[in-house]
Amino acid sequence: MVKMKKEIKLFDPSIDASEMNAVSKVLKSKFWASGSGNGLVKKFETQFQKYIKSKSCIAVNSGTAALNLAFSLFDIKNKEVILPSMSFVSSAHCIVEHGGIPIFVDIEPDTLCIDPKQIRKKISKKTVGILPVHFGGMPSNLTEIQKLAKPSNLFIVEDAAHAVGTKFNNQKIGSHGTIVCFSFHPVKNLAMPTGGLLAINHKNHNKLKDKLFSRRWCGITNRTFTDYDVHEIGWNYYMNEFSAAIGLEQLKKLDKLNKIRKKIAKKYFDEINITEKMPFSKDCSYHLYWILVKNRQDFRQKLARNGIETGTHYKPIHKMRMYPTSNKLPVTEKIGKEIVTIPIHPNLTSSDVNNIISKINRFI
Ligand SMILES: Cc1ncc(COP(=O)(O)O)c(C=O)c1O
Repeated sequence: MVKMKKEIKLFDPSIDASEMNAVSKVLKSKFWASGSGNGLVKKFETQFQKYIKSKSCIAVNSGTAALNLAFSLFDIKNKEVILPSMSFVSSAHCIVEHGGIPIFVDIEPDTLCIDPKQIRKKISKKTVGILPVHFGGMPSNLTEIQKLAKPSNLFIVEDAAHAVGTKFNNQKIGSHGTIVCFSFHPVKNLAMPTGGLLAINHKNHNKLKDKLFSRRWCGITNRTFTDYDVHEIGWNYYMNEFSAAIGLEQLKKLDKLNKIRKKIAKKYFDEINITEKMPFSKDCSYHLYWILVKNRQDFRQKLARNGIETGTHYKPIHKMRMYPTSNKLPVTEKIGKEIVTIPIHPNLTSSDVNNIISKINRFI
């Protein structure tokens, strides 16, 4: 019998008996979903809010849904929202979905987060908001972004899909911005089958939460035992009980799992013989670890032949047919061509990590 080489996956959720028991309980209860978000969804919102220390939290069924709901709160029709192009397409779709115009600006070459100097150049009379993405779990420079937003009264919606557990200025991401959107897609640091959440820190957070509460379930309000009403458009965006059950278990071990990611990141940073690679920061959640490689295709194929899966996060959004831009984005373009994401998850053994490092150092 031919012995198959072990494949090292790029992503691999960390689960054990606790998630399995939690799912089994939901299955047996036959209470699987509720637009009202009672039961475990509500419990997850409470626990997550305590974890990130935001004013309010509302759980939804994806990071994309969170972003779409966030932009439903602002009037952005024919107005501009500034964002990085180095992200997943949902970061831009949510702007277009609500009639806004995405204005892509370049990123910092070390963090791959939006460059505040580039934001400053693009603020115009039409600008209404800024959407920073905490790339790979590295925090965007929120202090500088807030300084730029304040004089023009711009809103900030953070895309924190990668940043569960990331810190900025000693506070968890989720506690700074007006609205902060998380994703709990299975590859994320806190994994669910599908899930997302909006953290709200606005002074009228209860009012916003009420709006989001109805919009996440088809605009339904005034729910009573005998009646309900609808006064606006809403969507089927609510989180289901299975996701919440898994999420509650994942949340209990999140810090422990992120600590393992950080340890691996430190080793990659110290031992991979490439100068252009993701920096080490104790504040980063390390959803991704990236390196820049000139001969990307050949390099990835060699790693794949050696059982190491890699990715290319991301093809810049402005390179998609739907999103051409006249803005010059030299850093994003270079990184879009050279970026390779390598496995960084808590299921990697130390022998996997050593193997990854030695193969990378051999093939670059
Ligand atoms: C930066 C970023 N924003 C938004 C999303 C959308 O999240 P979801 O897949 O949960 O809809 C993702 C998901 O991969 C992402 O990476």
